Amino acid sequence: MSGDGEGIKGCPGNEPGELFRAGRLVKICAPMVRYSKLAFRTLVRKYSCDLCYTPMIVAADFVRSAKARDSEFTTNKGDNPLIVQFAAKEAQVLCDAARIVCPFADGIDLNCGCPQRWAMAEGYGACLINKPELVRDMVRHVRNQIDNPGFSVSIKIRIHEDLKRTVDLCQKAEATGVSWITVHGRNVEERHQPVHYDAIKVIKESVSIPIVANGDIKTLKDAENVHHLTGADGRRGTMTFQWTAVATFLYGEVVVILVLCLPFISPLRWQKIFMIPLWSKIAVFWNKMFLTIIVLLIILFLDAFREVRKYSAIQVTEKVANVNTNAIDHIHMKLFRSQRNLYISGFSLFLWLVLRRTITLLTQLAKSMASHAALETQVNDTTEAAKKYLAENERLQEALNERGSGGNKESAKVINEKLKKEVEHLRAELQKTSNALVKANNEVTAVKKQSEGLKREYDRLMREYERLQESSSEAEDKKDL
Ligand SMILES: Cc1cc2nc3c(=O)[nH]c(=O)nc-3n(C[C@H](O)[C@H](O)[C@H](O)COP(=O)(O)O)c2cc1C
Repeated sequence: MSGDGEGIKGCPGNEPGELFRAGRLVKICAPMVRYSKLAFRTLVRKYSCDLCYTPMIVAADFVRSAKARDSEFTTNKGDNPLIVQFAAKEAQVLCDAARIVCPFADGIDLNCGCPQRWAMAEGYGACLINKPELVRDMVRHVRNQIDNPGFSVSIKIRIHEDLKRTVDLCQKAEATGVSWITVHGRNVEERHQPVHYDAIKVIKESVSIPIVANGDIKTLKDAENVHHLTGADGRRGTMTFQWTAVATFLYGEVVVILVLCLPFISPLRWQKIFMIPLWSKIAVFWNKMFLTIIVLLIILFLDAFREVRKYSAIQVTEKVANVNTNAIDHIHMKLFRSQRNLYISGFSLFLWLVLRRTITLLTQLAKSMASHAALETQVNDTTEAAKKYLAENERLQEALNERGSGGNKESAKVINEKLKKEVEHLRAELQKTSNALVKANNEVTAVKKQSEGLKREYDRLMREYERLQESSSEAEDKKDL
């Protein structure tokens, strides 16, 4: 190990993590055995390279042999920020190597991506992507034993054929407090095949630490394109799309509830608004939409809850294990984000239920207000009618009183007397009339008898006449003869 005689850069030194926090494209010279030595690094730094790696150094040799240190690692004052890459399979060995380079470098990187047969056979390089626990132990050891919180501990990996395993590895590494992850977008078998930038993008979206995209980047333009394609730019993770959507939904709910509660818009008006044709069309899907959103929010809430529990547990373990403050900060940040997501989804769920209840109550209130108004009209009409009858009644009462005042009883007696007299009079009249009738009847009978006598007399005279007539005609006949 050798420097340029101007002294060590010192530990603590620069913070390479700051490069990623700046939010712009970070240009990195990848570790290359035999190539990325001091001279090469000095050259690329002249061409605005932001961060350089040393070639991979086997940590065990480096720790054991001074000769190995001298030949493998040289640096100078201008050689920064610098990351020393190690091949290691034991936590303590890696830690010892990190302690040795700490005064001369800004961080160490664990090689989990070398696919060479000798490295894999030794348990180094890409075979570590199948041992996430060992990777976690190694990172944690370095974090615990290097006092400088700005000293970075990163890993460089290749991807699994099953991307889920890579995502899992990265999330575990992130939880351990790794500073960033370089992803060579090929699997262990691939050499010159196209790089899976889509896989890098997925990894980038599943963690919030910086992800460095690696593979097939030969020009600055390539770097910009890959940066654009994968989103891997070293920027700190922003809110993911789903949580941005939930937060927007939450704001929307708050606004709608506030508008619904405005005091100068009456429930009746709201009902009229709900009655407009557009709403009635939406209402057909309303129940389905309501249930779908409830289910989605519950899933998100449970997911956030799971994350909170996970990071709370990790935080406790890390504190107990006395891990470096940087790692604890990182876990704290993850915990904060999952708690924020828990609140967002929880409040969204709550307000969604409140919103539905508010709309139902408004509709019910509008209905009861309408029926109340109808009842009021009915009551008014009835009161009017009752008043009219009352007035009429009073008027009649008054008239009766007026008539009745001055001795009702006496007038009734007088009337009675009058009526009696009238009855007597009528009775006498009736008697007279019946007498007259009897008299008339008698007269009629007498007249009848008289007329019968006359009739008999007439019949007798007629017979007498006929007899005389016959006797006269007989006398004349005799004369003629
Ligand atoms: C000659 C050479 C040496 C390399 N040495 C290392 C190394 O020591 N450590 C490491 O992690 N990767 C090493 N790599 C891999 C590169 O860092 C990088 O991941 C790879 O070159 C990207 O793929 P590409 O060459 O198709 O662009 C080496 C690559 C080459 C070509």
